[in-house]
Amino acid sequence: MLKLNKDFLKDFVSQEEINNYQLEVSGIDSGIRNGDLIGSEFLGWIDLPKNYDKKEFAKIKKVSEKIKKENDVLLVIGIGGSFLGAKAVIDMLNHSFRNEIEGETKIYFVGQNMSTDYIKNVEDMIRGKNFSINIISKSGTTLEPALSFRYFKDILIDKYGEDEANNRIYATTDKERGALKQQADVNNWETFVIPDNIGGRFSVLTAVGLLPISVSGIDIEQLMLGANQARVDYTDENLNKNDAYQYAVIRNILYRKGKSIEMLVGYEPKLSLFNEWWKQLYGESEGKNNQGIFPTSAVFSTDLHSLGQYIQEGRRDLFETVIKIINIENTVNISLDEKNLDELNFLNGKNMQFANDSALIATAQAHVSGGVPNIILELDRLDAFNVGYMIYFFELAVAMSGHLGKVNPFDQPGVEAYKSNMFKLLNDE
Ligand code: PA5
Repeated sequence: MLKLNKDFLKDFVSQEEINNYQLEVSGIDSGIRNGDLIGSEFLGWIDLPKNYDKKEFAKIKKVSEKIKKENDVLLVIGIGGSFLGAKAVIDMLNHSFRNEIEGETKIYFVGQNMSTDYIKNVEDMIRGKNFSINIISKSGTTLEPALSFRYFKDILIDKYGEDEANNRIYATTDKERGALKQQADVNNWETFVIPDNIGGRFSVLTAVGLLPISVSGIDIEQLMLGANQARVDYTDENLNKNDAYQYAVIRNILYRKGKSIEMLVGYEPKLSLFNEWWKQLYGESEGKNNQGIFPTSAVFSTDLHSLGQYIQEGRRDLFETVIKIINIENTVNISLDEKNLDELNFLNGKNMQFANDSALIATAQAHVSGGVPNIILELDRLDAFNVGYMIYFFELAVAMSGHLGKVNPFDQPGVEAYKSNMFKLLNDE
């Protein structure tokens, strides 16, 4: 499970400052839970880990088995909240090179860009392969996935004929609205529902994430159990018993002290896409009214050799939130080399994780001494239960954090601006 470690915050935030937020936090907590605050129509994710539709869940498991049996490849088409969560969990919980492993149903994501090269390269990967499509769009009208879907649906129909193609399309969308739902009804596609009261970036634990995640072989029951454990653990409004709320408060204190950029850092490359999911969750929830912490991310050690200089000595408007995985599944031992030309024999008998953990501590010490506060989140291990737990932690924390910043954490009016310009241009041509 997850623990908030404040060892590297002492120079920047005191416990007293945190405790001073208790009254405000209690008010927001009751407002969120009673649905009294702005955005209350999008609170379906709060009790989802307990109240999720068990019939739909059983269908997801059944269909995912069918998809695995019938296909070499599943194409998952979606963008934003209809893409990032699934990809993040699949990457975190599978082999780093899952798609290259013989015998696995490969999962490729499309629709998150309009790059001709990318689309053609994906087409190369499905040539001669059995494949199905999971098209995911809550609104059913988002251009990027809709265009990719058009393209790959044609390929599917060319390959299998219309009837069989219709058996190979799985649509995850609104229960009654939108162009995708209409197409699904007309063509009799298997559909999965995105509940009305769950926004895109909060939807990873609905069919949006669960179907592709289950196809990748992850135990989605454990994912939900972990999220439910977090739901139970974080019901206390008392800041000292609720790490999700403390994290939200610490971020807000740092922001008010001029730390306007938060970098989510992991020491596991498998967390790269989780960083992206988190960026959407936090950026879309808080970046409003010309304010909000700018969410960015890094994977260390990789980025210590590119961004490290800036973090250590650049503008002092940054803080880091570091995800430390306590138990790593594999072991890589460091061996003795008789010649010791690299002079690393002093590490003989230690392992790679010792080096990685030491890098984390050494980096946090260095960055703190350079004026960069570090919040450390210690996650027990990278398994479905713990990842479900962590997802819920960040969702609840951003709800609290957004309300502390006095914005509606559940809307995203700004995303529309580019879309309306784009449609205008496309119609003018
Ligand atoms: O958070 C959001 O609402 C957006 O980022 C959406 O997830 C993204 O635009 C995809 O929307 P849709 O699922 O309607 O295609």
